[in-house]
Amino acid sequence: MDRYAVIGNPISHSKSPLIHACFAEQTSQNMVYERIEGGIDTFEDQVIRFFSVSSNKGLNVTVPFKERAFAMCDELSARAQTAEAVNTLFMRGSSLVGDNTDGCGIVTDLIENHGVTLSGQRILLLGAGGAVKGVLQPLMEQSPSALVISNRTFSKAEALAGRYNAMAEELNLSGRAEASPLEQLNTSFDVVINGTSASLSGELPNIPADVFVATTAVYDMMYGDSETVFNRWARSQGAGKTMDGLGMLVEQAAEAFRLWRELKPETNTCIKLLRP
Ligand code: ATR
Repeated sequence: MDRYAVIGNPISHSKSPLIHACFAEQTSQNMVYERIEGGIDTFEDQVIRFFSVSSNKGLNVTVPFKERAFAMCDELSARAQTAEAVNTLFMRGSSLVGDNTDGCGIVTDLIENHGVTLSGQRILLLGAGGAVKGVLQPLMEQSPSALVISNRTFSKAEALAGRYNAMAEELNLSGRAEASPLEQLNTSFDVVINGTSASLSGELPNIPADVFVATTAVYDMMYGDSETVFNRWARSQGAGKTMDGLGMLVEQAAEAFRLWRELKPETNTCIKLLRP
């Protein structure tokens, strides 16, 4: 039987086995999907050992190994190159191939599951860590009219805006990103995406409430059993629509499943199953 797994540390909380079991059942695929606890000193060896077994077909990679997975690949997709991180691994002949489906996951969730338009819209991206880096290219493909990247450490936002603009120029796209310090944001946005990890410590990024108006769609990449701190706050400040990152989790898995099995699973059943 074909075998897949997610590797990370910690890993016991991962919902990926449940999601892929749901997809496998729905599409009648004969496969198993497990969790592997990655060792900080042994990650690369574990990956190599995994793929030395011919029935082991694919790995998902999660925190804190996505950059290390990126560094060990023989071939990388364009979106993995932009993200400088890999969350999906498989073999093509004797080459280890890395892709990144996180950014595609959020874009698909926003557009297809929530009916949010991104093209021609003004988008605010909060944060400048791995989560935000991963969404730059898929967002660019939607051609927003404005993209503002804002981060507590301003220099990191500037670096990502610079990277976005270099890519846009290379692809002959007209849209450009700009960077802003959090507290200097002074206009409203059509879409606000929170890619900071502030919610993990129950904190809020220090942004003025002016960014939210009744037509603002707010997406927090985090999710939990209850509404995220960020979404609760955004709603209290007048944002008309709030969404959490559960759909992104399921959609990034669906894209990994498609890469491995050449089948695109239906995702709504799985999202409903996971929603507390
Ligand atoms: P990830 O891979 O999940 O993006 P990360 O690379 O550690 O994690 O990035 C975390 C992001 O959340 C960073 O943009 C961080 O801001 P800094 O670059 O200034 O560190 C942001 N972040 C974390 N806690 C925050 C807080 N309390 N307020 C605002 N931003 C915060």
